[in-house]
Amino acid sequence: MTIKVGVIGTGAIGREHIDRIENILSGGEVKAVTDVNQASAYKAVEDYHLDATVYPDDVALVGDPNIDAVFVTSWGPAHEQSVLLAIEAGKYVFCEKPLATTAEGCMRIVEAEQKHGKRLVQVGFMRRYDEGYVQLKEALDNNEIGDPLMIHCSHRNPGVDENYKTDMAVTETLIHEIDALHWLIHDNYESVRVDFPKKTKYSHAELQDPQVFTLKTQGGVLIKAEVFVNCKYGYDIQCEVMGEEGIAKLPEVASVVVRKESKLSSNILNDWKVRFMDAYNKELQNFLDSLVKYEEPQGPTSWDGYIAAVTADACLKAQETGEEVEIKLQDTPDFYKNETLVRN
Ligand code: NAI
Repeated sequence: MTIKVGVIGTGAIGREHIDRIENILSGGEVKAVTDVNQASAYKAVEDYHLDATVYPDDVALVGDPNIDAVFVTSWGPAHEQSVLLAIEAGKYVFCEKPLATTAEGCMRIVEAEQKHGKRLVQVGFMRRYDEGYVQLKEALDNNEIGDPLMIHCSHRNPGVDENYKTDMAVTETLIHEIDALHWLIHDNYESVRVDFPKKTKYSHAELQDPQVFTLKTQGGVLIKAEVFVNCKYGYDIQCEVMGEEGIAKLPEVASVVVRKESKLSSNILNDWKVRFMDAYNKELQNFLDSLVKYEEPQGPTSWDGYIAAVTADACLKAQETGEEVEIKLQDTPDFYKNETLVRN
């Protein structure tokens, strides 16, 4: 069975997902597109040789009876409306992060999905599909290092442009750690504090860089998460979990090790798209496959989108106030309690 996909938002990641569905993955076909910039939608049809209808807006696209699944890859503030429309029409949804820009918006989606009665929505947190994170999670779930006590992690980019401001360290960067870490250790966040070390000379007036987030979980695990987006040397994701019996670390990206001129060296990537290319592919293949196999998506849920929104809000408040801020999550509904699968 081929899943017929409609894409809302044909910008950068929308185009990448179209390319994946059409040229890399199996079991999906893009049959409809829309974008507020209609020229962009027509260009996507032309560039990827799609046999697809261009719709004027998300309402019209979601109303196409031939579409099985909707991909929401528009700007963050537009996501909630498109996801709600899709749920109302009983369509599956793959929504890029954020699920909605507010916790209340995420809750409206959670409620609509529960009312519908079965899972329809998957949120685009692709780290869960990265082979290194999958191995790390397996080590923790197999109790190889005992109970986790602390996590040290870093999210470093070589550089960002002038549009990247202090709050984006949370909404664009740390958001991926926020999702991956609670999933890794089966725990919920309780509070967050932010420290600003000495600012790098490579930053600009409206960006504190680096930043260090200290998150505490309900189970007592302490997380030190560094975001450093002008680190210069490369795109580097580190994650080390300290447990009662040992330490488990995210593997380094495979790279040839060279011994030459009294030096031992290997390469570090520069581009996040390259770093997580396999993860994006597995994420979408898993989404398409699970609709056929289980008639439900198996990846990150609307509830995970809600957790990310509440936690991100607290991180933003902690940035502004310099105080430790409580992360107030509602109890997980039974509907979302089953652990989601990640293996293809
Ligand atoms: P972009 O700006 O390149 O593309 C967004 C497109 O959506 C634009 O073409 C715009 O015209 C269109 N659009 C905006 N509002 C719309 C609406 N109401 N209906 C239809 N089209 C609309 O942005 P980009 O980089 O593609 O990001 C899109 C989303 O994907 C963002 O929410 C971003 O956070 C997320 N993203 C997630 C990543 C991940 O690692 N999971 C990586 C990059 C982006």
